[in-house]
Amino acid sequence: MRKEVELGSVINEVMAKLAKPGLLLGSGEQCNPMTIGWGSYGIMWNKPVFTIMVRPVRYSFELLERNGDFTINVPSDDMKKEIGICGSKSGRNKDKLALCGFTRKKSENISVSYIKECPIHLECRTVFYNDVTAAALDKNLIDRHYPKADLHRYYYGEILGAYIEE
Ligand SMILES: Cc1cc2nc3c(=O)[nH]c(=O)nc-3n(C[C@H](O)[C@H](O)[C@H](O)COP(=O)(O)O)c2cc1C
Repeated sequence: MRKEVELGSVINEVMAKLAKPGLLLGSGEQCNPMTIGWGSYGIMWNKPVFTIMVRPVRYSFELLERNGDFTINVPSDDMKKEIGICGSKSGRNKDKLALCGFTRKKSENISVSYIKECPIHLECRTVFYNDVTAAALDKNLIDRHYPKADLHRYYYGEILGAYIEE
């Protein structure tokens, strides 16, 4: 059963899993799951905000451009295979929910669904976006992360609700 909780009671676990093993971003009406390893949490405009970085080549980028709502789904410890699938296959030509055996469920506050099998979910609505610009970024980071010049777009999502599966 899903229960709404204080963001403060789950955010440490969300952040602990961001870099390793990764979180599952849900975007688009069909909740295409994509593994993310970069992002941040903070207070901006007096709101709790989760920021994600998405490269323009991703199908998720296309979905976010159509609809800025997204869900952050925290995988359970036994979801290594699913994180691999969602981080290597594209929703453009694969139904990753089906490949992972995931169930999408309607969110409370936004039009994008969440993944029921994940123990923690955040519902976010984009309130701002901007792009990484080569002119403003440390040259070492450009050389290391952008050999194809596919600079990320940041999406700043106001966190409208935090939930756990009990
Ligand atoms: C651990 C891990 C972390 C990743 N983090 C990001 C990320 O933060 N941003 C991004 O654009 N791609 C990231 N990727 C790559 C995407 O998950 C991958 O390209 C995915 O297949 C794109 O799916 P889509 O085309 O359905 O959007 C990551 C992949 C892995 C394995």
